[in-house]
Amino acid sequence: MNAQKNPRTFHVKSFGCQMNVYDGERMAELMAAQGMTATEDANAADLVVLNTCHIRERATEKVYSDIGRIRKHALRDHDNAPMIAIAGCVAQAEGEEIVRRAKVDVVVGPQAYHNLPALVAQAARGESALDTDMPLASKFGALPSRRKVGPSAFLTVQEGCDKFCTYCVVPYTRGAEVSRPFDAIVDEAKALVDAGAREITLLGQNVNAWDDETGTGLHGLIAALDKIDGLARIRYTTSHPNDMREGLIRAHAEVEKLMPFLHLPVQSGSDRVLKAMNRSHSRDSYLRILDRVRAARPDIALSGDFIVGFPHETEAEFAETLSLVDAVGYSQCFSFKYSPRPGTPAAEMIEGFVPGQVMDDRLQRLQTALNRHQAAFNAGTLGRTCQVLIERKGKLHGQMLGKSPWLQSVHVITDAAIGEMVEVEIVRADPNSLAGVERVRAAA
Ligand code: 5AD
Ligand code: SF4
Repeated sequence: MNAQKNPRTFHVKSFGCQMNVYDGERMAELMAAQGMTATEDANAADLVVLNTCHIRERATEKVYSDIGRIRKHALRDHDNAPMIAIAGCVAQAEGEEIVRRAKVDVVVGPQAYHNLPALVAQAARGESALDTDMPLASKFGALPSRRKVGPSAFLTVQEGCDKFCTYCVVPYTRGAEVSRPFDAIVDEAKALVDAGAREITLLGQNVNAWDDETGTGLHGLIAALDKIDGLARIRYTTSHPNDMREGLIRAHAEVEKLMPFLHLPVQSGSDRVLKAMNRSHSRDSYLRILDRVRAARPDIALSGDFIVGFPHETEAEFAETLSLVDAVGYSQCFSFKYSPRPGTPAAEMIEGFVPGQVMDDRLQRLQTALNRHQAAFNAGTLGRTCQVLIERKGKLHGQMLGKSPWLQSVHVITDAAIGEMVEVEIVRADPNSLAGVERVRAAA
């Protein structure tokens, strides 16, 4: 490890899930509070933080190739070689191994990043700087308060997972399920609204498992956030079917600020595969939950995650996934080829590994079906009038881009500013986005 000067500028690059985006923002706030300045250009930064994802193999390899790219650039400008910090789930899973393999300066796990400034100072003194502890005291209390955010902000309320799906590394990298305290969350939500947020997405690996000692449940937390003036929209992700409690389902009928969108991963439509995945729900119990959610909020947009080619998955079992997709009619989904993760039970099922070509073929067929449903869902919103939260400028002159209640991207020609809510009529529906015409400007 090289002795380095104290970095003055930094760049954070986050991979993977929304929680990593949130963690990346919090790390940036931490370093800004230390007097460092953020830079958009990774090549110009004194410190590059790669906030990594370990969920699939390709994500891990991307980190190593990114480290290589930073190094290669630094070789051309030897005096300004940046300090490299690896944060996130690859840091947690690989620890010392990254230092050995890639000779990075700092390694910090997702539960320890409040120590990042101290670790950076250690590395600047030429000392080894690795922290992958999962301390009992949460990192959140040690983070600075929120200052400036966009109209749509993330707020982590729950971390970790006790479900141990047999393919998944999350229980190992993020640790056991922990809920943040009610008051801390409400305070952070108010700070986010004061800092410019109009929409808050509550985050957790099992967000609907959020609870406190009095059994408030996620719906109780949502009811509290509903009372915050200036907050217009509430979302939450990712949920587990087994934690979909009645109160939360009812909240979709009762809380106007709660957006009509539910991301509820199912992974497979085959009961045999679900059991082998240790999902602890069946195809049928999953579909029954969706029936109840739809009864509470008929226009709700449904989303999910799928894995194709789980070990031993047969063509007939894959066909059950396709039929489930048709039964549900999702509005948008994520789908992946199974990727063996070291240390997980499924990675031991080598004799059942599905050949790459078969996985490619299944993924393509699944995505064709999912795209068809997404296009149909979007077409179904044609002619509807809805509120769009303006999030950024579009490519065309006067065009702005925002989100519908159903989480679709909507292009609107408007002079509304970022953060305003506009009422639009949807006049065009493409497979991936909508176009709308502004109606009446809603009072801010
Ligand atoms: N291989 C492929 N996909 C995975 N996911 C989690 N672990 C794996 C894996 N080993 C997917 C699941 C999960 C999403 C976040 O990532 O679909 O819901
Ligand atoms: Fe991973 Fe399953 Fe936990 Fe989701 S519920 S994080 S897929 S172990």
